Amino acid sequence: MDSSVRLPIIEAHRGASDECPENTLSAFRRAVELGAASIELDIHETKDGELVVMHDETVDRTTRGKGRLAALTLAELRALDCGAWKHARFAGERIPTLAEALELSRAHGVRFNVEVKAFSSPRAAERLVGLLREYAPAGGTHVVSSFHVDALLQVRQADAGVPLAMLGNFPAILDAARHHGFPWIHGAYRGVSSAVVTAAHAAAVQVMIWTMDEPGLLAYYAGMGVDKVCTNRPRLMLAEADVLAALLP
Ligand code: G3P
Ligand code: MG
Repeated sequence: MDSSVRLPIIEAHRGASDECPENTLSAFRRAVELGAASIELDIHETKDGELVVMHDETVDRTTRGKGRLAALTLAELRALDCGAWKHARFAGERIPTLAEALELSRAHGVRFNVEVKAFSSPRAAERLVGLLREYAPAGGTHVVSSFHVDALLQVRQADAGVPLAMLGNFPAILDAARHHGFPWIHGAYRGVSSAVVTAAHAAAVQVMIWTMDEPGLLAYYAGMGVDKVCTNRPRLMLAEADVLAALLP
């Protein structure tokens, strides 16, 4: 490999979601065990104002319950099993609160990419930045990302120091990041190009691609200058990163 190449940060998408039920403490602990430096998770606000970790707007796909997270209380959500759908060995897994997930960064130093799916009340952004401060990783910060620019601006309003990432497709997300001064763009990996990465870096914007599950393509994206790769397969991607690191001078 070219000696000027830097390997991207490997980020575990919804935790080690190929091996464990997505967005659970099992998936996050496994990602930490594998050595992932960063973990992506998705958050929603419950009916009673708690921030909890789940991808979908409803509990229907990953539990045996039904309904929108915003219409359920934390106690109602905690009664649900969010592990058994993946495999019987994960039966009994509970939907984590954001605080429980971020707590892992205290013990292990892992950073989180907290993707805001929806804020259903104005106090959610305040609650989020409070948790990010309380559970800040030593010597670093978590990142907040969203497809919704309004959600990012609410986070900025609550705490101007939180690094923000515009999620979506290249190159539109770069325009949004330049316009709002966001330090990261998180884009669907098929649309990335050397030109967009070069333009992003020229504007002091870092580039993450999702969800890239082909270890054989890591060298290609590293060569392009991508800063972070978000993957469902952190074990295989980290192994590939080790192979590539050994080739670097
Ligand atoms: O943050 C990257 C990725 O998670 C965005 O899409 O639908 O998997 O949350 P989604
Ligand atoms: Mg996500």
